[in-house]
Amino acid sequence: MRVLGISGSLRRGSYNHALLRRAAERLPAGVELVEFDQLREIPPYDADLEEDGSPAPAAVTALREAMREADAVLIATPEYNHSIPGALKNALDWASRPAGESALTGTPAAVIGASTGMFGAVWAQAEVRKVLGALGGRVVDEELPVSHAAQVYADGQLELSPEQTVALDGLLAELVSEVEELREGAAEQVAA
Ligand SMILES: Cc1cc2nc3c(=O)[nH]c(=O)nc-3n(C[C@H](O)[C@H](O)[C@H](O)COP(=O)(O)O)c2cc1C
Repeated sequence: MRVLGISGSLRRGSYNHALLRRAAERLPAGVELVEFDQLREIPPYDADLEEDGSPAPAAVTALREAMREADAVLIATPEYNHSIPGALKNALDWASRPAGESALTGTPAAVIGASTGMFGAVWAQAEVRKVLGALGGRVVDEELPVSHAAQVYADGQLELSPEQTVALDGLLAELVSEVEELREGAAEQVAA
């Protein structure tokens, strides 16, 4: 099983990138996390580029293909001004197009987030979850807010508390179980 991981931060030393790596370590055996690393290359969404029939920018095609090939998507988002960082929202807008052909349709998705403040990017996580729903994703309810990230970051690693680790494991289990449910449903359809 393959989970596509997307960090919503472009920053070197990003706490959200570290959080994504922590999640990768906690995935059950047999599940791998593959990171999307071209967020920086995705240009601002422009409907004219779609309408004049030009091929999509290479990084956009890479994102759409990575989403379609993944069994599930896991996004670690920072919070900018109580909302989704622009680069991440922009990428999700591209992934949602052409209309009716979202690259996330029917795919299980979950959101986690770290911030330097005391709320752990809760608003950004809620908004990313809403957007993933608009893209047709099967969005899991659980979230993981990691607050005061600078204080728990050292040597490129983010230390989670025991409670946060339990919450992360629960969220990942839910994501994997969504994929398994889909597979069982598909197998039943084939057998019928
Ligand atoms: C433009 C901007 C706006 C921010 N707004 C918020 C905010 O609304 N809430 C919050 O908790 N942190 C906010 N922060 C602080 C981020 O949580 C912090 O920069 C965090 O480290 C970003 O995640 P990263 O380490 O993955 O890049 C903001 C940072 C920037 C650059």
